[in-house]
Parts: sequence; C-alpha cells; structure tokens
Amino acid sequence: MSSSEPTTVGALHEVQRPSTPVTRVLRPGTWATALAALDDHPGARPVAGGTDLLLDLARSSGPPVTLVDLSAIAGARDITETSDELVLAGGVTHNQVVADPRFRRDALPLAQACLEIGSPQLRNRATIAGNLATASPANDSISALMALDATIVLSRLVGGEVTTRDVAVGDFFTGFRATVRDRFELITAIRVPKLRAGRRGMWVKLGLRRAQAISVVHAAMVLDLAPVDDDSAPVVRAARLAVGSVAATVVSVPAFADALVGGPLDADRIAAAADAVAELITPIDDVRATADYRIAVTRTMIGRALRTLAADAADAQWPADPPMLGSRRLPSAPPRADIDDADVIEVTLNGSPASGSGAAGSTLLDWLREHASTACAGVKEGCAEGECGACTVQLDGAAVMSCLVSAAQADGGEIVTVEGLADADGLHPLQDAFIDDFAVQCGFCIPGFLVAGAALLEECPAPTDAQISLGLSGNLCRCTGYYPIAQAIRTASDEPT
Ligand SMILES: Cc1cc2nc3c(=O)[nH]c(=O)nc-3n(C[C@H](O)[C@H](O)[C@H](O)COP(=O)(O)OP(=O)(O)OC[C@H]3O[C@@H](n4cnc5c(N)ncnc54)[C@H](O)[C@@H]3O)c2cc1C
Ligand code: FES
Ligand code: FES
Repeated sequence: MSSSEPTTVGALHEVQRPSTPVTRVLRPGTWATALAALDDHPGARPVAGGTDLLLDLARSSGPPVTLVDLSAIAGARDITETSDELVLAGGVTHNQVVADPRFRRDALPLAQACLEIGSPQLRNRATIAGNLATASPANDSISALMALDATIVLSRLVGGEVTTRDVAVGDFFTGFRATVRDRFELITAIRVPKLRAGRRGMWVKLGLRRAQAISVVHAAMVLDLAPVDDDSAPVVRAARLAVGSVAATVVSVPAFADALVGGPLDADRIAAAADAVAELITPIDDVRATADYRIAVTRTMIGRALRTLAADAADAQWPADPPMLGSRRLPSAPPRADIDDADVIEVTLNGSPASGSGAAGSTLLDWLREHASTACAGVKEGCAEGECGACTVQLDGAAVMSCLVSAAQADGGEIVTVEGLADADGLHPLQDAFIDDFAVQCGFCIPGFLVAGAALLEECPAPTDAQISLGLSGNLCRCTGYYPIAQAIRTASDEPT
C-alpha cells in the first residue's frame, strides 16, 4: 500500500503503530541460564524493566530480536548487606531502593537519585542495572553510584561456569552510551559502600519539571569530614563529586576535592569548589538547556549542596513515606522459559483467567487491548512512551506503565485494569468520588488516574497532599483537571476533607 492510500477502518497505517520488533522472549530462572541464553542466541538482548530497551527497539529500524528477560530470575531483586556495603542484585528496582530505609541511612545519594527517576509506575519496573547499562550521561543513579565509589559485578560463562569481574562504576563508561560490558556479560550485582564514620553525601538534580524529567544537570557528592569539638566548620579529609548531563559520560571532577580537602567546609572553600567545577565542565547546548545555563546552574547546585552538607541537613528534603504504588511481588510459579509470538500466555486478569497469543511482539498495553481473551479497552494509550500514565495497570501488585512492559513478561502474572476496580457491590469508592467531585472532563486519562489512585489509597489510606502529588506524578491530564482529581482522592480516603 502506498503512503497516500487511506487505511481501512480498524487497520493502522504502518507509521501509526510500530510494533515492538521482538520475536521471542526467553525467561530464565537463574543468572547462569540467562548467561547461557546470551551465549546461545547471537543478537539476543537482556531486558529487565524494559523502560529503556522497549522504546529503543520500537524506535529502531533494526531486525526483530530475541529478548532474555531478567525479571524472573530467582534472587534478582535481593538486597543484602555486609558491615561495609549494601549489595544490590542485578534486578533491583529504583522503588526498592526508595522503600528500603537502609539506603536513606547509609547511601543517601543513591536513595535521592532513585526517588527522582521518572514516576512511581516507572520506578516499580526500572532497574539500577538498566540505568547503568544504558549509560546515558543523563541517567541519575550513575552520579550517585560514582560519588559513593560503588562497584559493578559483571558475570559471564566461561567453560560452563559463571565467572565474575569487578569494575568500579567510574571505570565502566567508555563514551556516550558505551561501556566496558561485552554482550556476553550481565550486571549481576552492584556493591555500594556505606556512608559511615564522618562521611556525608547527597545528590541533586535540575529537571524542567518535578517528575518524568530528564536531568538538565545532576550531581552527587560525598565528603569525609573530620570531627570538630567546637562550633567551627568541620575539616574535609576527602571529597568526591560526579556530575551528569554535562559531557558524553557522567564525569568525576577531581578539582572539587582539590578545592576542599585539608581545610574547613566554610563559605570561601565552598565558593572555590563550586567555581572550580563550573570552570572545568564542558556541556553542550541541547533542547533542555544551553551550555552557559548548565554551567551557571551547576555552580549554584554545587554551592547549595555543600552548604546543606555543612549543616548536616542532607536528608531534610526527603518526603515523609513516599508512595510506591505497590511493591512488586515475584510470581511463585516458575516462569515459562520460552515465549514466541504464537505462544499463548496466561494471566489472572481482574480476578479471572485470561489468555492470548501475540505476547512476544506486544507491549502489555497492546496485548490487553487486542490479544487478551477478555479485551480491556479501558487501558488507554496516550503516549506509548511511559510519559502520561494513561496505560497504568497493576501488575503483581504494583502500578506500572503497561506501554513499557513486554506482554511476555506478564505471563503467569496478576493484572488489574480499570475494568477490575468495580466489584459486584458497585463502583470502587474512588470511581464514585471521581463522579461526585466532577473529576472527569474528556475522560481519556481517567482510567490511568483511577488505577494509580486505587494503588495509592491501598498503600496510604489517608494520603497527605504531598503523597497525592508524588503518587500521581506519573499521570498527566490534558484537560488539566488536577484539582478535582486530587480532591476525589481525598474524598475516597479514610479521612475525607
Ligand atoms: C518516561 C520515562 C522517564 C524516565 N525518567 C528517567 C529519569 O528521570 N532518570 C533516569 O535516570 N532515567 C529515566 N528514564 C530511563 C529508564 O527508566 C532508566 O534508565 C531505567 O533505570 C532502565 O532500567 P530498565 O530495567 O528498565 O532497563 P531495560 O530497559 O530493561 O534495559 C536497558 C539496557 O540495559 C541492559 N540491561 C538491563 N539489565 C541489565 C543487566 N542486569 N546486565 C546487563 N545489561 C542489562 C539492556 O540490555 C538495555 O540495553 C526514564 C524512562 C522513561 C521511559
Ligand atoms: S505512559 Fe503508557 S501510554 Fe502514556
Ligand atoms: S480528563 Fe481529559 S485528559 Fe484528563
């Protein structure tokens, strides 16, 4: 069909709906079988949360690929600790870090970075390992992990045995979106030294809005401060700074330490350190900011962060009980190991069994609307890029953007869509509140708000205004009906106002 010919009703023109070019999804249950799958399938790509990879594939014109899904690996989401380190397995998500108080206490810069990534729905899927492997200089966890001097554990199979090598995060990146990892290796763990004994750290970001914002600049710093007996400023024994979105990779800036180490953390030294950093970075102009603006704002951000650390107030901005919109549970049954497009996947959809083929090449959004035996047209496609929240569903107890999940990754899972909120007794209390508070205009965004809002109320039965704003930060309303939407959440809460 030529591009000038009209499409028939129901059929989309090829430019309207690029399908996800995936023919097969392998779902290993162990790191060893995942590594073997990479060895056995040339061109196969590992996928964790899929929040970067699925979009990259949808935008690419390359041949269809096989995915090796890491999300069903036993232990992939484990977080363990030693006396000196927090150890994240290769599938730990950003929301797991936000929810775990050990990070706020012992690795605050990483907790702060994870809290600022995307939206709650995104953070329920997106992993730290994926953030590192994508290797964009704008990726927020990288500056935090560099300042904390974390180590990446890369594993591969040699002679059938899993062997590992340790790479300092600072040595992992070789250029824009390029790393030392070869295609047969996986990030199986990230070791993060704890901030103890005089060490203080924090992470800061400037984005063009408060959620879902790629960093204009992000930076993390860790200082080692000698104790002082009186009210004088503490003396800096060591300092590390990493800055992102100002070069092809996130960069560490040794001049920061040169300006600070050996003296007190006072106003003069803080100004000198901020100036030294601003003089050394060489950002580019792009759609988000000019180079000059980035330099000026970096100076301001570094100065403010140092003053905050001097006052020992780095976690003062941490919100009280940030909502996660669910914490992901692993399915108890072992996953089906190999799914191609002809295979039928089975899920529990709104409490009843549902099935359908087409899962390998579909996002969960498309599968629910077009392939599931019980079609769910209530799940809306607003952007298909994780930006708007219209496609929000609950998967295994956590709200997710269904446009960013491979449907094959949902096999065996439990899914709740807007169609599942009402029960035999009537509408969900939040649906009643949306009607009573006139929270609906054109209605397109509402299914996503309802599913996200229901997850929020499950987690925080009487949410504060701050929790409502954070919990719904992944949902956009083009009709801008945010005030009545927030009011409907309050009305449906345990303490209506
Ligand atoms: C709407 C939206 C908003 C976003 N906002 C932010 C933001 O504010 N800040 C930010 O930093 N990022 C942001 N991102 C980017 C993205 O969510 C993160 O980079 C995420 O952490 C990637 O993790 P993932 O598990 O989804 O990776 P995937 O998409 O599954 O994989 C990404 C890459 O990593 C590889 N990979 C995954 N796991 C491993 C592993 N264990 N070993 C080796 N390779 C692996 C994959 O092969 C792929 O190349 C945003 C993305 C979207 C769509
Ligand atoms: S976030 Fe999925 S359609 Fe917009
Ligand atoms: S009510 Fe129209 S987009 Fe939200």
